[in-house]
Amino acid sequence: MLEEIIRNLKNSKKIVVLTGSGVSAESGIPTFRGKDGLWKRFRAEELATPHAFSRDPKLVWEWYNWRREIIASKEPNPAHKVLASWEERFPEFYLITQNIDGLHQKAGSKKVIELHGNIWEVKCTKEGIISENREVPLKEIPPKCSSCGALLRPNVVWFGESLDQATLNRAIDLSTNCDIMFVIGTSVIVQPAASLPYFALKEGASVVEINIEETLLTPHVNYFLKGKAGEILPELNKKLIS
Ligand code: OAD
Repeated sequence: MLEEIIRNLKNSKKIVVLTGSGVSAESGIPTFRGKDGLWKRFRAEELATPHAFSRDPKLVWEWYNWRREIIASKEPNPAHKVLASWEERFPEFYLITQNIDGLHQKAGSKKVIELHGNIWEVKCTKEGIISENREVPLKEIPPKCSSCGALLRPNVVWFGESLDQATLNRAIDLSTNCDIMFVIGTSVIVQPAASLPYFALKEGASVVEINIEETLLTPHVNYFLKGKAGEILPELNKKLIS
């Protein structure tokens, strides 16, 4: 099957990859819905909604500060590295991620389409200005905007919020017009990201799923590679470059 996927990949012009938290699992970052997943240990509605933030910004920021501390100490794994090398190799390669950890960029990917924002960015709740903030741990919780003094929030998408429309439109357009799509380390549950592989399938693209377990998408894909992204992607890459 790997040979067939590689043949397919080599014949493809537009290549799209959609990643989820499973791609960072081997770096030591918890996923959301796995055995030790964040949503097994924490209640999303108390930590990752606009309502939770307006009720208790300190609590929400303490949770993000904790996640920032975990992520800051982690390194990209072989899956991130192979995807970064594919951006160099293929002229029309597009990486769409649901992850907010920035590990794709740390591995060298330059043109990452971040559907759910980035944990290393903050947004002023008054002026809407987005800026980078890599302070670990944060000196002040909750942090305040240095220009107007208003509360800052993490520049991430919370439950009940819409994705940035331009970013989503681009992801839909790329998914609709690609030749091959890899769906890696995502439970394919959270909308609208979960619809992207179906746009690709509808237009006749080949869809390759890499996951340690089957998902609702699995029966629809052309190829399902069961296993860890950090092992399967290097295996595929070895065949690609040999
Ligand atoms: P989930 O936790 O829902 O799913 C992680 C997926 O990764 C599961 O299907 C696992 O089987 C798979 N997986 C785990 N380890 C893996 C490995 N080493 N190699 C390959 N696959 C592996 O995480 P997401 O699908 O990313 O949204 O969740 C989507 C969104 O839900 C997140 O972006 C976040 C969350 O709520 C927001 O915060 C808006």
